[in-house]
Order: sequence, then structure tokens, then C-alpha cells
Amino acid sequence: MLRKIVLISLLISSVGHAQQIAGSKHDFSVGSGRIEIAGEFEICVFCHTPHHATLEAAPLWDHETTVANFEIYTSPTLDADDIGQPSGISKLCLSCHDGSVAVDSYGGNTGYLKVNSAATKIGTDLSNNHPISFLYDTSLADADGFLEDPDANWTVSDLLFENKVECPSCHDVHNNAPIPFNFKLLRLSNDDSALCLTCHIK
Ligand code: HEC
Ligand code: HEC
Ligand code: HEC
Ligand code: HEC
Repeated sequence: MLRKIVLISLLISSVGHAQQIAGSKHDFSVGSGRIEIAGEFEICVFCHTPHHATLEAAPLWDHETTVANFEIYTSPTLDADDIGQPSGISKLCLSCHDGSVAVDSYGGNTGYLKVNSAATKIGTDLSNNHPISFLYDTSLADADGFLEDPDANWTVSDLLFENKVECPSCHDVHNNAPIPFNFKLLRLSNDDSALCLTCHIK
């Protein structure tokens, strides 16, 4: 319960930043000029609700969760050995971006507006995407030899969710960074591949 109250107050205290979702790629309200959900004038509601939320990895979640079976990333040089089905927040991103659940399936309603553009639909085959939903710790860094140690590097540990690499390690849906940092909603600029080089020593 205490956790819920903290989360509700977090949610309320962020409303001051509302313009950062408003007009962003994740604003689906009437007048946004992209996927517009008829009759919807709120902007947090596609993903969060103050009440009756689903207990998911992101706070006060209110969007239907995908049940798709995903093909996962594999490679002979990969050291991480715990890559399974997407979990945590990544699964929530994929609940729109795999194209199986409608963007307007929130608040208990089943919608019909699905992500279908070639660019933004990640789909269910993740074998050609950067690996996600795996533990990134000192022993992985040691095993790989060319990764920053997250325990010794706060910039890296700040990008992890429950010590894992997830979609939001690289993207911020709330798009609260100024241009040019909001290119593709990236958390850090990727000029000169800076985002990649935050974790990879190459
Ligand atoms: C498209 C989905 C989406 C929309 C729309 C959205 N959020 Fe979020 N929100 C997320 C996800 C995913 C996370 C967890 C990942 C993260 O923290 O970046 C999150 C995390 C949060 C958190 C906790 C972490 C933090 O950043 O403090 C708060 C508070 C929050 N959202 C508030 C809001 C508010 C307020 C709005 C509307 C102005 C909003 N969100 C709109 C998806 C969304
Ligand atoms: C409620 C559905 C929904 C959720 C949840 C959601 N997205 Fe999206 N996202 C969309 C849609 C729809 C678009 C395309 C909007 C457009 O092109 O008009 C989009 C666009 C994007 C883009 C492209 C931005 C650009 O500049 O082209 C990125 C990156 C992205 N989302 C990442 C994420 C990540 C990461 C998460 C989870 C943390 C997430 N999304 C959660 C629906 C969602
Ligand atoms: C390791 C970092 C990283 C991770 C993890 C990551 N992305 Fe991305 N993503 C990027 C970068 C960088 C781009 C921009 C590519 C470009 O156009 O240069 C991008 C682009 C995108 C786009 C826009 C595609 C386009 O062409 O407009 C979407 C949508 C997206 N990512 C969603 C996701 C989702 C959903 C996840 C989790 C399943 C995810 N990303 C995980 C780094 C990442
Ligand atoms: C948050 C940290 C982080 C960021 C940012 C990041 N990566 Fe990674 N990446 C990892 C980790 C950890 C692995 C797993 C390495 C392993 O297990 O061998 C990985 C795996 C990979 C692999 C697969 C390696 C293999 O052996 O199959 C490639 C390629 C890669 N990343 C490229 C990139 C690129 C390109 C970017 C920038 C767009 C990027 N990464 C951004 C942490 C990150």
C-alpha cells in the first residue's frame, strides 16, 4: 500500500512535465496528429492509471500486456546466458510495439488501433534486435572483457532496470530531454555512437 501511495504521488508530481508526453510520439490524444484515440483527451492514460492498476514492472500500469511468444536474440559470441522471453518493462513496450495488442487497449477496453508501420513495429521476432531482459553485472562485464562494469560506473547502472538491459535502457518514452537528445526518444545522444559506447568498450 505504501508503495502504491508513493507511486501515486510520483505520478502526480510528474504532471508538471506533461508537455513532454504531450505532442511526443506517445501522445495519442485527440488533436495529437498521429494515432488519435477518439474521445481521449488525457495523455498518461494509455499507460498509467491512478487506480485499479495492473501490477507490472512500470508503475500504475493500465495497458493490456502482450501474450505473444517471441523469438529471442542468440549469437555465438554472446556471453549473457539468461536471455529468455522479454520481461519487465520491455514486455510492456512490446505490448504496443509487437503489433499484437492495440494501442487503445487500455483501461480494461479492447481497442483496434495497432502499430503497423514498418519502422515502429518491432514484431515478435527479436533475433535481429539488440538483446534485452538479461542481467548486466560485474561477472558479465568480466566474462565479455569489453563491457563497462555497471557496479563501477553510475552512468551505466542508471541505464539498467532491476540490473537488466531493457528497452528503456536506451529509450525514454516520456521524452523529457531537449533536442537533439530526443532523437528516437534515446536516453542519451547517440552521436558518434555515444550511447553504445556508454556500455561497450570498443
Ligand atoms: C506510452 C506509455 C506511457 C505514457 C503515455 C506515459 N508513461 Fe509513464 N512510464 C511508462 C513506462 C514504460 C515507464 C517505466 C519506464 C521508465 O521509467 O522510463 C513509466 C514510468 C513512469 C513513472 C515512474 C518513473 C519516473 O520516470 O519517475 C512516472 C512517475 C510516470 N511514468 C509518469 C507518467 C505521466 C505523469 C504521464 C503522462 C504525462 C506518463 N507517465 C505517460 C510509460 C508511459
Ligand atoms: C500504448 C502503446 C505504446 C507503448 C506502451 C509504447 N509505445 Fe512506443 N510508440 C507507440 C506508437 C503508436 C508509436 C508511433 C507513433 C508515431 O509514429 O506516430 C511509438 C513510437 C516509438 C518510438 C519511435 C520514436 C521516433 O522518434 O520515431 C520509440 C523509440 C518507441 N516508441 C519506444 C518505446 C519504448 C522503449 C517503450 C517502452 C518503454 C514504448 N515505446 C512503449 C506506442 C507505444
Ligand atoms: C541498446 C539500445 C537499444 C535497446 C535496448 C532498444 N533500442 Fe530501440 N533504438 C535504439 C536506437 C539507437 C534507435 C535509433 C536507430 C536509428 O534510427 O538510428 C532505436 C530505434 C527504435 C525505434 C524507432 C525505429 C525507427 O526506425 O523509427 C523503435 C520503435 C524502438 N527503437 C523501439 C524499441 C523497443 C520496443 C525496444 C525493446 C524491445 C528497444 N527499442 C530496445 C536503441 C535501442
Ligand atoms: C545499457 C548498456 C548497453 C547499451 C547502451 C548498448 N549495449 Fe549492446 N550490449 C550490452 C550488453 C550487456 C550486451 C551483452 C554482451 C554479451 O553478453 O556478450 C550487449 C550486446 C550487444 C551486441 C551483441 C554481442 C554478441 O556477442 O552477440 C551487440 C552487437 C551490441 N550490444 C551492440 C550495441 C550497439 C550498436 C549499441 C548502441 C546502439 C549498444 N549495443 C548499446 C549493453 C549495452
